[in-house]
Amino acid sequence: MIVPNILNSQQLAAVQQGLASAPFRDGRATAGPAAEQVKRNEQARGDDPGVIDLGRKVRLALETHPTFKALVRPARWSRMMFSRYGPGQQYGLHVDNAAMYDDGGWPLRTDLSFTLFLSDPETYEGGALLLRDLAGEREFRPAAGSAVLYPTGQLHKVTPVTHGVRLACVGWVQSMVRRADQRELLFDLERVRQGQDGEEAALLLDKTIGNLLRMWGED
Ligand code: NI
Repeated sequence: MIVPNILNSQQLAAVQQGLASAPFRDGRATAGPAAEQVKRNEQARGDDPGVIDLGRKVRLALETHPTFKALVRPARWSRMMFSRYGPGQQYGLHVDNAAMYDDGGWPLRTDLSFTLFLSDPETYEGGALLLRDLAGEREFRPAAGSAVLYPTGQLHKVTPVTHGVRLACVGWVQSMVRRADQRELLFDLERVRQGQDGEEAALLLDKTIGNLLRMWGED
C-alpha cells in the first residue's frame, strides 16, 4: 500500500540535494546470485560516509509517521539504501533476502519492505514498482515523498526507466509483530481509536471481531 507524505517538500529537497553528490555504485554488488542476473541500477549505501546522514533523515521521518508506525510497528531496521535508475535501467522480477543487516552489521528478519519515492513522477518515464501476489500484479508510481510498503516475501520488480532519472530509498524492517494478520488487526483497532467516523469504525470492528473469532474459535 501507499503511505503518502513521509517527507515534506523541504525534507525531500534536502535528500535530493544530498544524493546529487552521493557515491553511487553498480547495484549488482549487493544482489544475491539470482537477483544479480536481473538487477541493473546504481546504489548508494546508507553506511557510506556522506550518505549516513540521509539514511538517518529518512528513518526518522518513517519512524515518526503515524500511519507507517501503526502499520509496521518497527523493531529493527536494515541499513538504508538509495537507488538510482537512468534510461534503460531496471530491476527484473525477484524476491528480497529474508535476512538483511542493520547499521551495526547484525542480521535482522525482513518482514516488510519499503520504497520511498524521491523523484517527481513527472520527471521520469517507466520506473514503476510492480508487485505480484496471488491476486495479480499492481504497479506503483506515487508522488515524491510517498512510500510503498509491501511484505518482503512478495515478488516484485522495477520496470525499465525510459526517460529521466528515478531516485528512491529502499529498506527493510523487522516488526515487533511477526505475523501480518496480527499486525493488520492492530492497525484496524488503531484506526478506530484514532476516530474513524461511525460507519467506518463499525465496519473495522466487525472485521476485527470476525478475525479474532477465526483466530481463537474452535469447532
Ligand atoms: Ni527488491
